[in-house]
Amino acid sequence: MAGTVGSVVNGRPAEGAPGGTISSRNPSLLADVVAEVALADAATFAAACAAAKRAQPAWADIPAPVRGRTVAAMGRIVEANKESLARLVTRELGKPLAEALGEVQEIIDTCDFFLGEGRRLYGQTVPSEMPDKQLFTFRVPVGTAAVVTAGNFPVAVPSWYLVPALVTGNTVVWKPAEYAAASAMALFELLQAAGLPDGVLNIVFADGPATFAGLEEGLRAGAIDKIGFTGSTEVGARIGELAGRHLQSPCLELGGKNPMVVTPSADIGLAVHGALFSGFGTAGQRCTSLGTIIVHESVHDEFLAQFSAAVSAAAVGDPANDVVYGPMLDQKFAARFEEYLGWIQPHHKVLGSSGVGRIGAANPRAGFVGDPDAGLFYHPTIVDGLQAGDALFRAETFGPIVGVTSYTGLERAIELANSPGYGLSSCIYTNDPREVFRFRRGVSAGMVSVNNSTSGAEAHLPFGGNGKSGNGSRQSGIWVLDQFTRWQAMNWDYSGRLQKAQMDVAELAADLGFRLGS
Ligand code: UN1
Repeated sequence: MAGTVGSVVNGRPAEGAPGGTISSRNPSLLADVVAEVALADAATFAAACAAAKRAQPAWADIPAPVRGRTVAAMGRIVEANKESLARLVTRELGKPLAEALGEVQEIIDTCDFFLGEGRRLYGQTVPSEMPDKQLFTFRVPVGTAAVVTAGNFPVAVPSWYLVPALVTGNTVVWKPAEYAAASAMALFELLQAAGLPDGVLNIVFADGPATFAGLEEGLRAGAIDKIGFTGSTEVGARIGELAGRHLQSPCLELGGKNPMVVTPSADIGLAVHGALFSGFGTAGQRCTSLGTIIVHESVHDEFLAQFSAAVSAAAVGDPANDVVYGPMLDQKFAARFEEYLGWIQPHHKVLGSSGVGRIGAANPRAGFVGDPDAGLFYHPTIVDGLQAGDALFRAETFGPIVGVTSYTGLERAIELANSPGYGLSSCIYTNDPREVFRFRRGVSAGMVSVNNSTSGAEAHLPFGGNGKSGNGSRQSGIWVLDQFTRWQAMNWDYSGRLQKAQMDVAELAADLGFRLGS
C-alpha cells in the first residue's frame, strides 16, 4: 500500500485532509500508486505563512556563515541519497533515470554554489560626498517566501528557490505540485535533516484554488513577502496581478516556446542531436523544451530528413531503461497534449513515428520499450510546414511535439523566433560568429545557446524569461539574491554636525575653459 503524504507546518504534520485526497500515480504504470496525498485548505496555507513569519527573525539572527553550513549539509545529504531520490522521481514523474540523476545533481550543484554565499552576502562600503561620513549597503532578507512549483522538475527547480531563500535568512512555505508529492516530500525530509529549526521550511499540499486563496489570505495578513512561482503563463499572470495589488513583484518562471534556428553554416548532425534532446527529452515537458525549429530553406530538406530519421529511431518507453523519453508527467498533461494534437492542420506534414497520439496495442510505436498500455505514452510528433499564424506555432505545446518552419534571411528567423511572445530559452546552430551575435542581440529570450540545445541550462547562470515566459525575474547564481534580499542603504555621519547632502559639498575650482595650445 502506498504511504500518505501531507503538509508539515511548523515542524508538525497537519491534521486531516480538508482539501480532499488524491493519488499520485506512476505515469508509466498507472496501477502503481506512489502516494496518497492529503490536501490542505486555504486556511492551512495561510497558517503556514503565519508560522513561517514568526520563525523568520530568529532564522535571520543565525549568522549567515552558519546558515551556509546548513546548506552545505543539505548538499551532502542529498548527494548521499542521490540514487534513491532519482529513482523516486523516475517512478513518480516518469523521467528516464539518467535525467532524474541529472535533476538531483542540479540540487547538489545549487547547494554547492550557495553554501559559500553564507560567507559572502557582500554589502559595500561607499565613499560619501562629505568628510567624516561613511556610506554602506546591506543585503536584508525579504522575510517569508511562498514558493509554488511545478512537477516537471519536482526537486531541482524547487531547490532553486528554497536554497537561496534560506541561506539569505528567509523562511519558506513550499507548495509543490500534487502529482509530484512523494518526490517533494522526500526533498523536504532531506532538507529538514540538515537541521532547520521548526517553521523555517514548511510544506503544504493543496490544489490550485486553495493555494490561490491561501496566497491572498497570507498577503492580506502581511505574512508573505515574496512569491516564487514556476508554472503556466496563465496562472503566472494571475499571481503577478495578486502580488501587484500588495505592491510585490513575484519571481515568475513561466512557459516557453523556445526556438532553434538552424543556419546554412550549421553542423546539421549536431543540430539534429540538439533537437532530439531538447524536443523530446522529458517528453517535451521542460520549460526549456524546444518549440519550433526555424531552419534555413537551403538546408531544410536535409535537416528534416535526418531529424525525422533520428526521431523515428529514438527509444521511447519505460523510463527505468535507456530511453530518450518516457510517459507524460500526469493525466492532466496527457489530456492537454491531445488538445494540441488537434491543432495539426491539412497544410502540415507529420513525421517522426508510426502513429500520432497515445501509444498502445492499437496504435503501436516501432521499437517501444516496455508495455505502452500500462502508462501515458505518446508518439513523438514532428510537424513540418508551420506558418506564423498557426496555433501550433504560437502557443506552448507541453509534450513530445516539435514544429518546423523555414526562413530565408536571418532577420526573418529572429522575427519568427520572437513572434509567439515568449522569451525563456533559444538556440542557434551556426558556424558564423556574425550570425551568433546578431541572433543574441535580436532574440527576446533570457537564455541563448550557441550550437547547443534550448534545454540544459547550468545551475549557476541566470535562469528566467521575458514576455509570456516571466516578468524578467532571474533565478540561480548570484542573480537570484536580488529576489530574496533587498538592499538597505546606511549612512553614518560622525562629524558631529548636520552635513546636508548635495548642499554642504566641497568643490575644487576647475578652469573649464582650459584648452591645449596649438
Ligand atoms: C524547467 O523546465 O523548469 O535547462 C527547468 C534545463 C534544466 C532546467 C529546466 N536545467 O532544461
